[in-house]
Amino acid sequence: MARRSISSVGLGRANQRKRNVALARAFFVVLVVVAVGLSGLALHLTRQIKREGDQGRNTARILSFGDPVQKAPPKLSVAIDQAQIKPNEVASPAIVSPAKSSAAARKYPNGPKQDEKYKHDRVYCMVPFVWNAEYHKTIMETWGKRCDVINFFTDSQVLHGNGRLDGDKITVNTDSPDAYKHYSEFPAGTFPDNVIFMNMTRPWFGCEEKGKPKVCRHIWEKMWRSWVYVGDHHLDQADWFCKVDYDTFFFPDNLQYYVRDYKNWDSANEHHYFGALLAHKPGRPSMIAGANACWSRKTMEGIAKVYREMPKGHTGPERHKCEDRPKASEEISTSLCLKVGLNVEAEPARDDALREYVMVDPYHNHLNWNRTEQGEWWFWANKPKDAPMLEECCAVRPMAFHKYKQKELIMGIDERFYGPASLMEKRSHLDKWARASDKTRAYELKVRAAMNIDQYINQT
Ligand SMILES: *[C@@H]1O[C@H](CO)[C@@H](O)[C@H](O)[C@H]1NC(C)=O
Ligand SMILES: *[C@@H]1O[C@H](CO)[C@@H](O)[C@H](O)[C@H]1NC(C)=O
Repeated sequence: MARRSISSVGLGRANQRKRNVALARAFFVVLVVVAVGLSGLALHLTRQIKREGDQGRNTARILSFGDPVQKAPPKLSVAIDQAQIKPNEVASPAIVSPAKSSAAARKYPNGPKQDEKYKHDRVYCMVPFVWNAEYHKTIMETWGKRCDVINFFTDSQVLHGNGRLDGDKITVNTDSPDAYKHYSEFPAGTFPDNVIFMNMTRPWFGCEEKGKPKVCRHIWEKMWRSWVYVGDHHLDQADWFCKVDYDTFFFPDNLQYYVRDYKNWDSANEHHYFGALLAHKPGRPSMIAGANACWSRKTMEGIAKVYREMPKGHTGPERHKCEDRPKASEEISTSLCLKVGLNVEAEPARDDALREYVMVDPYHNHLNWNRTEQGEWWFWANKPKDAPMLEECCAVRPMAFHKYKQKELIMGIDERFYGPASLMEKRSHLDKWARASDKTRAYELKVRAAMNIDQYINQT
């Protein structure tokens, strides 16, 4: 169109247009430079803010693990119930995923992979949860349907009436005397079968941040209790057991790829504990951060025993023991218990080129992290010096992306990676959200190609 109009107007006007275009370009470049500068500044400020201990800010570009010793990352997966346990209450039965029960019709990518090759690599997705119907539905309609088994481990006390959870913020009608109710007081059929209510000793509500109700951070009790339950009831249902945060987009099929095609591990006979490895605190057992943490069945069985037998109810401060206590960080406690109980160390999920399989922050952020420019903050600290960055940050068979607290984002990712190729053309929440969508798009296409997703879709 530009060419046609040049032939029909005078040369002067064409030059004028060229100048305008050049000006517009220059302006655009300036804009980009300013934007990059600002985001660098924002990054710096965010870290500063974290350091100063003001964690609740919504700036969110990174760093909910700012300093995991004092502060667990804000998570919904927290929680507890001051156990008004009804004596005759029956726990929800162990559940095999709807993906399985609702028939073989649900072929991959609408269900778990059925390949013979992965028959000893069944994936158990364990989601620590505070009951929230909307998140449950979103997960089950997206990545959850690709787990061989998926269960949500939830506090027995449930929001009632006008109460609502938005991420880990709670809105409740404080005038209402029954803002929370025990799950057994809800009508039969209120909760899906794969929600397992845990008897916790510490309540998930009653905490505040800046005067607003917020989910309390008691994730450690939720975690160890849930794993004991899985060890007692579900050990034979799967081969790889993963804790997956509710604000994560998980790829069970890529986990299978990693353990089978890439590592060729033996879940029944080898200990493995893996995910995004953080090694920023030397002298402490290395730990797996955020998003997801997976282990083999052998490790699952061993750790359930460690958790069953460890001391419970310590109320004092941290004393570097594998034990139950309030306000403990889940990641640190897990790595400590694995180390002292089983002598198991965390293994980084990285490929040959040292690209990460698990993204602790939204992937469009990882694609923009420049180590040279940022320096050695916790994400980079003690990583191999030659670890790749920017566009090369991330494995092309990713296992998980972390920190998506809106259902539209989770659904958008599902579409991008598992939907028909035609949907890649569509604008989505992710476009609006991502800072560098051409880079982001290029990565998405690489992943789709590596996963061979178009071929699977055409078979379905
Ligand atoms: C919670 O406690 C009740 C009463 O003791 C028990 O029946 C139920 O099985 C427990 N739930 C879990 C998940 O352990
Ligand atoms: C990364 O940061 C370094 C140091 O600021 C800079 O020289 C380099 O151009 C940056 N790379 C990219 C791709 O932005």
